[in-house]
Amino acid sequence: KDKILAALPEGNVDVLPVIDSTNQYLQDRISQLRSGDACVAEYQQAGRGRRGRQWFSPFGSNLYLSMYWKLDQGPAAAMGLSLVIGIVTAEVMQQLGARDVRVKWPNDLYLKDRKLAGILVELTGKTGDAAHLVIGAGINLRMREPAPDVINQGWINLQEAGIDIDRNELTVTLLRELRAALRKFEQEGLASFVPRWRNLDNFIDRPVKLLIGDKEIHGIERGIDPQGALLLELDGEIKTFIGGEISLRGR
Ligand code: ATP
Ligand code: BTN
Repeated sequence: KDKILAALPEGNVDVLPVIDSTNQYLQDRISQLRSGDACVAEYQQAGRGRRGRQWFSPFGSNLYLSMYWKLDQGPAAAMGLSLVIGIVTAEVMQQLGARDVRVKWPNDLYLKDRKLAGILVELTGKTGDAAHLVIGAGINLRMREPAPDVINQGWINLQEAGIDIDRNELTVTLLRELRAALRKFEQEGLASFVPRWRNLDNFIDRPVKLLIGDKEIHGIERGIDPQGALLLELDGEIKTFIGGEISLRGR
């Protein structure tokens, strides 16, 4: 804890032994927060993913981190912001030794074609045009086996891949780089991040399927457009898809 606090030049970080959800913890305190304030927990009793899904969050050296950000551009820019979080998290992990970490649209991290981390950006309110966002990241560093029904897709943790990243160093670097990237995103938008996404995209130019409710769409993944929408090639034509209820899978 002391190491984390000493290395953080800006923003508060609450270090919690146990909490329902680190995103919920910040949401409950939103009026007292400034952009960049964050928390981490040793484990979560009700970690959550998109659309009320569960995020398996056992005790034992995974990272569960949330950060508050007030986005002056408003809620419409939140999709771009969540891509930025994925890009920066993947790049930081690569720099710290996990060279093969990739991103999966809209905001998961993949390693060896399996899910290593999930990112959840939640809109918690508005003041004028500004959106109050809580950004959460769960990263599997070392993890015991979940019950078979808890995770319904391939998952992985760094230990299983033979990669050792110090959790404190990851936390500190991630917070610093996320804050810097979000400031850049606020000033310049998504443009400079789009080529970075391309380099990291796990499924670029590969056959994928999109799950949209009961529907399945098969195509070739072609990256993202300047707004951050997914590009999918269908019968030789490029179509765009925007976040929300869509899940992307390999084929
Ligand atoms: P995607 O992000 O690919 O669209 P999704 O829409 O199926 O996935 P999300 O809500 O984004 O689901 O993520 C939650 C899902 O992640 C859960 O349904 C579960 O299958 C999986 N999951 C839960 N905990 C973990 C974990 N610790 N590591 C990897 N995967 C997990
Ligand atoms: C997903 O893939 O659906 C996103 C999962 C996000 C999990 C993280 S863990 C820290 C933060 N607190 C939560 O309850 N969820 C996010």
